[in-house]
Amino acid sequence: MPQRIGIVTGGGDCPGLNAVIRAVTKAANRRGWDAVGVYGGYEGLLNPEQCKVLSIHDLDGLLTRGGTVLGTANRGPFCAKVGHGQLVQLPKDLLDATKAACEKMDIVGLVSIGGDGTLAIANQLYQHGIPIVGVPKTIDNDVIGTDTTFGFDSAVACATDALDRLHSTAESHRRVMVLEVMGRYAGWIAALSGVSGGADVILIPEIPFTYESICAKIADREAKGRQFTIVVAAEGARLAGGGFVTAGAQEAQREAKLGGVGAVIAAELQARTGKECRAVVLGHLQRGGSPTSVDRALCTMFGTAAVKLIADGQFGRMVSYTAAEITSVPLAEVGQGIRTVPPNAGLIETARAIGVCFGD
Ligand code: F6P
Repeated sequence: MPQRIGIVTGGGDCPGLNAVIRAVTKAANRRGWDAVGVYGGYEGLLNPEQCKVLSIHDLDGLLTRGGTVLGTANRGPFCAKVGHGQLVQLPKDLLDATKAACEKMDIVGLVSIGGDGTLAIANQLYQHGIPIVGVPKTIDNDVIGTDTTFGFDSAVACATDALDRLHSTAESHRRVMVLEVMGRYAGWIAALSGVSGGADVILIPEIPFTYESICAKIADREAKGRQFTIVVAAEGARLAGGGFVTAGAQEAQREAKLGGVGAVIAAELQARTGKECRAVVLGHLQRGGSPTSVDRALCTMFGTAAVKLIADGQFGRMVSYTAAEITSVPLAEVGQGIRTVPPNAGLIETARAIGVCFGD
């Protein structure tokens, strides 16, 4: 019987998941191994009908296709985080059942593709004796142990395109346009798209803002004959001394849903400056669609590196992109927290050097 490995995708979807599935399956097949696709997130492991050996035909078109053909879940018994990022320990009977299911399917290595929550669960499964390796996925780019996650470049490309489009309409109407982007408690998407999209103001969770600072920037632009202003706000951006803006009521046993800060900022800026201000929420548009060429290549490198980790018996590790090399780090280091934007990062210094306002 050939060696058999499993592939599971968890958490929110993101561009490039399918490209990793393709790379893992191809690399496994080249070693004479089968790759079993686990459908519906970790929960799929518990149901044999949701686990299927992937054939070469299942891989058709996967390099460029958005989302995950395996499906994913960020709720249910394997939900890793609740509230504002509080880690959950899985009950022993669930860990036992998952281990037994993997053994029954003869899975000698499981590739878990996910963000900080999914990878924290992967570490719990590893500690419980399941041979598992991780691949860092998320548009938020907030996974500890890697310089970048796949999906981030695609999300930044989408946000940059949105900023480009907002420029022309903002200028025509002499408005302040506020673009709200995702990223949860990290400002990577806002910071990078803000620089590449030429935003005048970038608001990120790591640098609390004041309205006085933003209004001063708008006034300064007006004094220089610039009648419009582009603001990009991370969904986790917050007023100095204030809290996160959340969307809707908190669901039990789920992470808090951030959202709405863009509208709050636009309304306040309009009240303070008298200028017309509009808020645009990029939302799930930045998570959908085809991965960029950078992400496709990164996914292929990550997927093949994950198979190599399994071949080398290096379980309990996550593949990583560090200092322009593919390497790996212990899963135990990964899911304990998130990687946020250092307020003195080169990217932030660059933006400040050209006059971008961070609201501080
Ligand atoms: O973690 C990825 C992410 O897109 C965050 O940026 C965002 O806060 C969250 O997921 C949205 O989750 P949902 O798809 O449940 O609305």
